[in-house]
Amino acid sequence: MTIPGFTSTGSKRPQALFGSETGGPQTMSRTEGCSLWDRAGNEYTDMIMALGTVALGYAHPDVVAAVEEAARAGTVGSLPPALEQEVAEQLAAAIPGTESVRFFKSGAEAVSAAVRVARVYTGRDRVVTCGYHGWFDWCQHEAGVPQCVRELRTEVPFNDVAALAREVKQAGPVAAIVLEPVIDGPPDSTWLHAARDVASQCGAVLVFDEIKTAFRIALGGAAELYGITPDLAVVGKALGNGFPIAAVCGSRDVMAAVTRTWISSTLATECVGLAAARAVLRVFDREDVVGHLRDTGTKLLHGLEQVVTDHPNVFTGVFGVPQMCYPQCATAAGSGQVAIEAARRGILFKLAAYNFVSLAHSDDVINNVLETLAAVAERMEAVC
Ligand SMILES: Cc1ncc(COP(=O)(O)O)c(C=O)c1O
Repeated sequence: MTIPGFTSTGSKRPQALFGSETGGPQTMSRTEGCSLWDRAGNEYTDMIMALGTVALGYAHPDVVAAVEEAARAGTVGSLPPALEQEVAEQLAAAIPGTESVRFFKSGAEAVSAAVRVARVYTGRDRVVTCGYHGWFDWCQHEAGVPQCVRELRTEVPFNDVAALAREVKQAGPVAAIVLEPVIDGPPDSTWLHAARDVASQCGAVLVFDEIKTAFRIALGGAAELYGITPDLAVVGKALGNGFPIAAVCGSRDVMAAVTRTWISSTLATECVGLAAARAVLRVFDREDVVGHLRDTGTKLLHGLEQVVTDHPNVFTGVFGVPQMCYPQCATAAGSGQVAIEAARRGILFKLAAYNFVSLAHSDDVINNVLETLAAVAERMEAVC
């Protein structure tokens, strides 16, 4: 029996993490805090945090308790749960511009729904995108996506205001401009404003894909941090702290388009994901999670800059923002070697987008990660 491509989450296959089929740990048995144990029982400090799915730390006690309670209470029934409304209200308080919410199970599903909503709302088909938005047809050029679907989307480079204005004009009537607000670094001061202005001027729906940024760079993501409100915000990942939940949040007016098409999924309202989200949002209310991620992330980012400066033969630069960042190597082979060497020394670390700090990462953990990376770089310099 095989799982084609090694695993159902492509970004967790050995090739994606270590640049080769062998060399790093391949499967895991459990996680807790910022630690991961591989199948053989070896412990690692995890800087990848399940691709940014977890901001409170693995198996956070509040989330575990909430999920256990939800499981015992029966996760589904034949009516929608009252919890759906409660979590929608929590999201309205957290995400700027939210008057209306729909829940989903994955990021790709939620961004897809946002695009459908925008198409219904505007009566238009074309979309302009910037960033990664999941594996669904509307935003992919991969094998199996019909040419006529590919032609409806234009991709623009991050932080390039002129390209955005030009491509939106050339694309014709645009239903949605869908942006990841942070890609390899913060947005320029003009970029998100320009996106807001261009969308408003051409009558397109502005969608911020905040799957990685919400509940991380600020509670309300880039919209809160940079003070620009999109028409729709898509959130997920850290919202569930490892449990499956995502949401489209937006103005009542735009979101009403949901009811003029068909967007529905049997398990969208199961209660484990909703209960996890409610618990996560309560932790954010009670503790300064955002401050911890910013401060710990800043320590990591500055430390990485120093490691890169000290080892110019191994590293070429550092990308990202404090809460999600990575150093880059000159070659893909070098990246793989660093990741494998770091894993041998007990650190799971990415040399591409992104490493994520969590509430479970302390200053001591970050110091150890930085010392380990410096030692790995020194060894690589000695070998070369
Ligand atoms: C910005 C962004 N949008 C959408 C997605 C897709 O989310 P999922 O993998 O949960 O479908 C991702 C996943 O990494 C993402 O980073």
